[in-house]
Amino acid sequence: MLFRNRFLLLLALAALLAFVSLSLQFFHLIPVSAAKNGAGGKSRKRVMPNPVTEPPVMDPIYEALLYCNIPSVAERSMEGHAPHHFKLVSVHVFIRHGDRYPLYAIPKTKRPGIDCTLVANRKPYHPKLEGFVSHMSEGSGTSFESPLYSLPLYPNHPLCEMGELTQTGVVQHLRNGQLLRDIYLKKHELLPSNWSTDHLYLETTGKSRTLQSGLALLYGFLPDFDWKKIYFRHQPSALFCSGNCYCPVRNQYLEKEQRRQYLLRLKNSELERTYGEMAKIVNIPTKQLRAANPIDSLLCHFCHNISFPCTRNGCIDMEHFKVIKTHQIEDEKERREKKLYLGYALLGAHPILNQTISRMQRAAEGRKEEIFTLYSAHDVTLSPVLSALGLTEARFPRFAARLIFELWQNREKPSEHSIRILYNGVEVTFHTTFCQDHRKLSHKPMCPFENLVHFVQRDMFAALGGSSTSYYDACHREGV
Ligand SMILES: *[C@@H]1O[C@H](CO)[C@@H](O)[C@H](O)[C@H]1NC(C)=O
Ligand SMILES: *[C@@H]1O[C@H](CO)[C@@H](O)[C@H](O)[C@H]1NC(C)=O
Ligand SMILES: *[C@@H]1O[C@H](CO)[C@@H](O)[C@H](O)[C@H]1NC(C)=O
Repeated sequence: MLFRNRFLLLLALAALLAFVSLSLQFFHLIPVSAAKNGAGGKSRKRVMPNPVTEPPVMDPIYEALLYCNIPSVAERSMEGHAPHHFKLVSVHVFIRHGDRYPLYAIPKTKRPGIDCTLVANRKPYHPKLEGFVSHMSEGSGTSFESPLYSLPLYPNHPLCEMGELTQTGVVQHLRNGQLLRDIYLKKHELLPSNWSTDHLYLETTGKSRTLQSGLALLYGFLPDFDWKKIYFRHQPSALFCSGNCYCPVRNQYLEKEQRRQYLLRLKNSELERTYGEMAKIVNIPTKQLRAANPIDSLLCHFCHNISFPCTRNGCIDMEHFKVIKTHQIEDEKERREKKLYLGYALLGAHPILNQTISRMQRAAEGRKEEIFTLYSAHDVTLSPVLSALGLTEARFPRFAARLIFELWQNREKPSEHSIRILYNGVEVTFHTTFCQDHRKLSHKPMCPFENLVHFVQRDMFAALGGSSTSYYDACHREGV
């Protein structure tokens, strides 16, 4: 209980810090004339609120700002912290792609005018931006598994395409890479000076935004970005389940979870009224508007400080946005309570966790291959992993979210290995299912690696409530 409270306190602190840095950005860093986005440049009404006071925890606007993850002065980071007699053995990084253009358009409205070319005189900026562009433009096709080589290596459209990574998205990951480089390479010397392609394991889904996010992170991270040392594998599944994707029980949990979502939505009359109003504004049936997932597009307007769309019938406004965003937050809350998603998450995350512990076991045995792993992925990748680990308080993965597993060796007892887990720079190891009691039962400062291994190989299935002892059994169990 004490730890839970401390965790909440930490989260609140993290939120406060993020808030302070956001405010700094609002007040000092972004010139008011950053209106290049507003194609046409007329005096458009802007939607970005001016945060002046600390909002209550469930404030939809505040949550949306965290989700945007607008690059700001200070990024919190607890990565790489361990007692001095521990040696860093390997690091496994899961990222969500950075800020992107919407995946859906709101019918009959003008798309937000955002420029997806990378230019130095636009905010947000990073000192490695130009180097990134010039390195990417001489990219080599041999660094990718098919069909990745057909993807563009950096965003480059004057009007973003649907789902395209933006300059903000690139900068977010250059910053992630730089931060990890300072900690893991400069401080802990994870990679030897003669490092080669064998030291890395890189995997991405087949979207340009994930490949480009991964490349930006590596460009910020690696001491020298040498195309000959880069090899990105292609992952067809957003769950990164490779050869183990077939799992009927997981799909049953997902169907039940979707049913829960649907019923919760029906109960929310304010939400229904809001969709109705918005549908009237854009003059389409409510059903069609809902299917166009307007929150995705509105979040893009919000994160880029572009006014919400208007038509002859009126404007979509901040109140509409707040109602939908609030519903999202309530949906996540009920999702945690009803635990159907947990069933989906445990089965969905098992293959990638299993793969990760295998890689860690090899590193623990002293093998030097694949000691830095990068999975460039999506919210639907990180969410199940977070839930499966028992990190129920964790927020929905923001743009450029990072979830990191660190493996450490005790120099005083070289056979002993420990694990740390960090989400967006906050240490969450002692809030995971497999280590939350550790500090109560042990005086040791670090979480034993075995805890994670046993969790993935055994306890994950027990957590599903049946008698299954393997992934295959759990996936094919009758009568869930
Ligand atoms: C958002 O737009 C408004 C109005 O143009 C402007 O006053 C404000 O500074 C902008 N905020 C950011 C963060 O760009
Ligand atoms: C890299 O350096 C280490 C020690 O300095 C050496 O043992 C290893 O063989 C070298 N590897 C390569 C590929 O040169
Ligand atoms: C778990 O990892 C082991 C070792 O790599 C592998 O043999 C096994 O097939 C994996 N199981 C699943 C369900 O991913």
